[in-house]
Amino acid sequence: MQSGYTDAFGKIDTPFYFYDMDLFRTTVSELASLSSLYGIKVHYAIKANTEERLLRHIASYGFGADCVSGNEVLHAYRCGFRPEDIVFAGVGKSDREITESLKLGIGTFNCESLQEIEVVNGFAASLGVRANVSVRINPDIDAHTHKYVTTGLYENKFGVSRHEFEALVALLGRCGAVDLQGLHFHIGSQITDVEEVYSLECRRASEIVRWFEDKGLEIRNIDLGGGLGVDYEDPDANPVADFGTWFRTIAENLPLKPGQSVHVEPGRSVVAQCGTLISRVLFVKSGETKTFLILDAGMNDLIRPALYGAYHKIENLSAEVHDGRERDQVYDVVGPVCESSDVWGAGRLLPLSVRGDLMAIRSAGAYGQVMASRYNLRDLAPAVFSDDLVKNIF
Ligand code: LLP
Repeated sequence: MQSGYTDAFGKIDTPFYFYDMDLFRTTVSELASLSSLYGIKVHYAIKANTEERLLRHIASYGFGADCVSGNEVLHAYRCGFRPEDIVFAGVGKSDREITESLKLGIGTFNCESLQEIEVVNGFAASLGVRANVSVRINPDIDAHTHKYVTTGLYENKFGVSRHEFEALVALLGRCGAVDLQGLHFHIGSQITDVEEVYSLECRRASEIVRWFEDKGLEIRNIDLGGGLGVDYEDPDANPVADFGTWFRTIAENLPLKPGQSVHVEPGRSVVAQCGTLISRVLFVKSGETKTFLILDAGMNDLIRPALYGAYHKIENLSAEVHDGRERDQVYDVVGPVCESSDVWGAGRLLPLSVRGDLMAIRSAGAYGQVMASRYNLRDLAPAVFSDDLVKNIF
């Protein structure tokens, strides 16, 4: 990690989430220039990271927010997103979440079932407002990613499937308080076969859009969701996600009619690489067959390894600044939580590590802090921003 903040980290209680704001700003500005080059509208999926500073910066570029709960909608609004730039997705929106979002005047409800469209229509009619609706379609596409983050297959709970399309057209004709904006697709997360998977999504989306247009519906927005993957193996080699390949693939595979626009909802690719979970070695323990490095950060701080078997690069920051640590050792790096799945990485080759060393768990900016819990009554790791720290002088 080239952060240059190891001295400053040494003065802060661990564990904490460190955000490299230079990298974050570079990422957002690259996203802005490439999305405008290709004429693609971006709604940042705030579920990946809801830190107010990050959201305010993203909102300042005029991006929208993709939200999946009433609280996310309100938080996005409070952090500077304009109501009309907020979209609200999710298979299970409660009555309160729907009515509050209607009162706020959000841009679009991404509806996931026929019943939901009827309910949104009913609340809009009784409030005397109109609801903009896009319909999430289940395109039955394999995103080649972890089964827990695949969403576009018929076996998944998301979206409306083909057998309901005729009924959907009839329903939209009956819903007087609903204005159809477009169709929404999101097929999964941490997609690394970018050209293959997204070109397939675009071709399938085009076919489905054409089907609805043939039925007389106007599809103004085609929302392809998020999912662009990041490099967890080597974050320093690829600090900024490959937005260019993503957008080029979309532009080449999704023909648009005049007046039609493409939307995307990246989450991970915007925030993953700027975030690092900083921890300390509490103990070095020799097991019968292994050596354990026991850190003060655990699965409650970042659940991805325990939940998905996700790989996060681990670095010993203290060894980077002290001499005489070249001797590498193989460690099982683990957390303090009372669960055997609280493992950061088994069999990791690291410099010889000792009690008190600062450790970095990389690429933790997305689905890290937001998924933390107080399991074992442990404290929540706070956010620390590079803008507030002084860099090493050497
Ligand atoms: N749009 C919709 C409708 C989504 O469900 C998601 C993510 C996104 C956009 C943003 O996808 P992204 O660009 O971040 O891949 N906790 C898991 C990831 C769950 C993703 C859920 N949906 C993880 O840590 O890998």
